Amino acid sequence: MQSFTQYAPTEIVFGRGAEDRLAEWVKKHGGSRVMLVYGGGSAVRSGLLPKLEALLEKEGVPCAALGGVQPNPLLSFAREGVVRAREFGADMIVAVGGGSAIDTAKAIAHGAANPGTDIWQFWKAERPLTQSLPVGVVLTLSAAGSETSSSAVITNQETGEKRGINTDFNRPRFALMNPELTFTLPPFQIACGIVDIMMHTLDRYFTKTEGNEFTDEVAEALLRVVIRNGRKAMADPADYDAMSELMWCGSVSHNGLTGLGVVMDFSVHQLGHELGGMFDIAHGASLSILWGSWASYVRGEKPERFARYAEKVWGVTDAADTEAAALAGIEKTVDYFRELNMPVCFSGGAMGVQPEPVIAELALRCSFYEKRLVGQFKKLDREDLYNIYTAANR
Ligand code: NZQ
Ligand code: ZN
Repeated sequence: MQSFTQYAPTEIVFGRGAEDRLAEWVKKHGGSRVMLVYGGGSAVRSGLLPKLEALLEKEGVPCAALGGVQPNPLLSFAREGVVRAREFGADMIVAVGGGSAIDTAKAIAHGAANPGTDIWQFWKAERPLTQSLPVGVVLTLSAAGSETSSSAVITNQETGEKRGINTDFNRPRFALMNPELTFTLPPFQIACGIVDIMMHTLDRYFTKTEGNEFTDEVAEALLRVVIRNGRKAMADPADYDAMSELMWCGSVSHNGLTGLGVVMDFSVHQLGHELGGMFDIAHGASLSILWGSWASYVRGEKPERFARYAEKVWGVTDAADTEAAALAGIEKTVDYFRELNMPVCFSGGAMGVQPEPVIAELALRCSFYEKRLVGQFKKLDREDLYNIYTAANR
């Protein structure tokens, strides 16, 4: 095995009724005044939010609820949340929802613990983050993996930038994960989640690092489980077994385990973030639009890795040679996205096919105005990024 460090401190409570123990976990992690952060209303409609408020009240934990986080969560809303959290005197932020609520809770926690600093400075790396408030999670969507990850992704609407920061201060203290809370998800969100979970593993799996047998096989097993249960979940969102497999795979996919010891790539996420920043499309859709074009563009870097993926994940054993196997693996992945009714090129997405100057602008932004190369499997410069966006722009 290659050397690695692994830090996954989030305590998980998994299974039916997990959220009933919110007050216990808040207290265990030192919370005494809690701000609950949620989205556009699904948590209210399902009755989850009032239930959590009542549970906290019953256990003598004052709480304030802040709703209105939108998908591709906005910096302006998080800034507002910081003010509210400080006014309320919150000493813990608990997200109720998916990646957008969780990332907003993380941003609010950073801002509330650092009065006088504008939180965007942390995202722009203009200030080091040295302290934050503890964050807890009641998860309602299996997708982003933010409930265990070290990332938080926020969109600055004024500049059109969607940016993430990675820091251990982003690791939630606890996550309460009841798969039943995901039964109300619309099919599109389930599908977006399946793509995102796969992508957190694929963005680690396509690496040039060798010698990580366990990491590779964990990744392959996770992908097979997600693909299989993704089909079941799409057919019946109230299938507890399928939804629970997706939920746990979502966390493991992004807590580091499927990439231990490897040099990670994450190009597709970087390409996707520019699309999300410019067009406000669902994160999972931005990834399904771009993955096939990225994979086709870079497969020549190490075709045998793509061939292995095809065999271990998709059961391709009859390809004529390595190249044919690599292509078959890419095709099967893209076909699976289609089966989930996910877009696989620009015309399938909300923004449609774009004129050439927009593609050039996306590539320029993704290269940070030519200040960085993107990814590791193949280090992509502005021209490479342009070529990949162009291939997907059909
Ligand atoms: O806002 P509400 O009304 O709650 O509705 C949400 C939202 O419209 C809905 N939803 C959530 N749970 C539901 C539900 N609807 C019915 N029943 C439920 N149980 O789903 C919609 C999408 O929610 P959102 O939180 O935006 O989705 P997701 O979990 O996919 O998160 C996406 C965000 O996470 C970021 C993405 O970039 C995007 O901004 N990511 C964060 C990561 C991290 N922090 O580690 C990693 C990821 O790669 C990703 O970048
Ligand atoms: Zn993602």
